[in-house]
Amino acid sequence: MRACEVMIDIHCHILPDIDDGPKTFDESVAMARLAAADGIAGIVATPHLNEKVFDPIEISRRVAWLNHLLRAEKIPVSIMQGADVSVLFKPSEIEGFTINETEYILVEFPHTHLPSNADEILFQFVVNGYKPIITHPERNPSISSNPHLLTKLLGDNMYVQVTAGSLTGEFGTGAQQCAEHLLRAGVVDVLATDAHSTTHRKPQLSAGMQAAAKIVGHEAARRMVFSNPVKIISGIDI
Ligand SMILES: [Fe+2]
Repeated sequence: MRACEVMIDIHCHILPDIDDGPKTFDESVAMARLAAADGIAGIVATPHLNEKVFDPIEISRRVAWLNHLLRAEKIPVSIMQGADVSVLFKPSEIEGFTINETEYILVEFPHTHLPSNADEILFQFVVNGYKPIITHPERNPSISSNPHLLTKLLGDNMYVQVTAGSLTGEFGTGAQQCAEHLLRAGVVDVLATDAHSTTHRKPQLSAGMQAAAKIVGHEAARRMVFSNPVKIISGIDI
């Protein structure tokens, strides 16, 4: 890794006892240890915000305690605040759930389909000052069978995050082929782990980056795990 670069994971369910991620802080620490071994130096903690609604203070408390534990264990990973926000939420309801207090916010479509008003939903985020990052579109059945549905949705200040594991086949052939198509189309801004545990959906980015490099080249693949996520957590335009 170059001295000035750190790999950042902007989408990781690493906080305990808040969603379907780890149950305990011990498991969260183990996930961070695995991430560090893969070369990840920063993780945005992004619990699901969907049917179960919680106060963003629930996230920040866990982030603070996990950072304390990681320092005590000398694990060189810092945790930042974020959320994996369902499109069911309106822009007026998401204050405190953006990535590291920037305008960037993860936006998750349903796992079953693409809403017919997806363009209007994204537009409303943008006109309210947010920069929506569409999470793992390659795992949405409507998009994986017709990737053009995504490319025609995208406009200014809208971004795309593909799951690293999709590029290594972890989510099946459909997701892998769609992820590869989106890479070739040049619409992927960032890779992230969307990790949930140390055993499946692990917090690892390097294998996905290497798979992406075979399609878009090393420099473009590196941007997706180094410079673009750094810009996102810093609130800088990509
Ligand atoms: Fe997620």
